[in-house]
Amino acid sequence: MTNALIFGGSSGMGLALARTLLADGMDVTIVGRSADRLTAARTELERTARGTVRTARADIGREQEVAELFARMGRVEHVAVTAADATGVYGRTADVPTAAARAIVETKLLGAWLIGKYAAGHVTGSVTYTSGINAYRPNGSNTIVAAANGALESLAYGLAVELAPVRVNVISPGWVDTPIWDQLGMDKRAAFAELAQRLPARRIGSPDDIAQAFVSVMRNEFITGTVLHADGGHRLV
Ligand SMILES: NC(=O)c1ccc[n+]([C@@H]2O[C@H](COP(=O)([O-])OP(=O)(O)OC[C@H]3O[C@@H](n4cnc5c(N)ncnc54)[C@H](OP(=O)(O)O)[C@@H]3O)[C@@H](O)[C@H]2O)c1
Repeated sequence: MTNALIFGGSSGMGLALARTLLADGMDVTIVGRSADRLTAARTELERTARGTVRTARADIGREQEVAELFARMGRVEHVAVTAADATGVYGRTADVPTAAARAIVETKLLGAWLIGKYAAGHVTGSVTYTSGINAYRPNGSNTIVAAANGALESLAYGLAVELAPVRVNVISPGWVDTPIWDQLGMDKRAAFAELAQRLPARRIGSPDDIAQAFVSVMRNEFITGTVLHADGGHRLV
């Protein structure tokens, strides 16, 4: 049995979570679209893993791929989801291509729903999704991402009731230094430095900060239907 199935485990927060669980001796399957990215991640993870690393290719937005993956997996203790296609979604609503808006909704929201649909009967412990600070801090260039994140949190409340006693939760990260920022074409360092000054935590998040938040809700058997904010206090400033 795979102890943890991580959609998005080949990069950023999902990769950090895989590293943490594997160091604890869990068997982990990481899922993504790119075979090259999965192979590179597995090679890196195997350097420190005490459990077994497996990879699986699937697009979270494609129903057949999600259904077949769960059918192949059999029983899974924990499912974690960090995968989402956010390419081209940042900008004023008038400028965001509709295809990009559809892609974020189809991956972050409908992909999460597909996992809820097909994980039923396979997952025994928990499902944990990733939303984000955008849902709480509209800034004029994140409107559709904010909407997808907000809807994802509502989805998780519904699934926590439907899938019980399997627990369903959401981690809402603040700004975290991961490869997702590289596609935004902005001065990441300057933006991070400016925000870090204002944040109560006085720094930007690391993938490891988010991995620890995942672990805390995955392990605590009394937490379900909850959004855990791992954002350095971003909602307060
Ligand atoms: N980084 C931040 O500051 C931040 C802040 C708030 C919220 N978030 C949210 O946190 C989550 C994780 O972000 P991250 O920064 O860790 O991103 P990342 O480093 O870009 O990693 C994304 C992972 O998801 C996979 N993926 C993307 N689209 C997929 C799809 N359609 N099907 C299956 N796998 C897919 C990617 O692999 P492939 O590309 O090979 O599929 C990769 O493994 C995202 O939902 C993001 O919106 C991030």
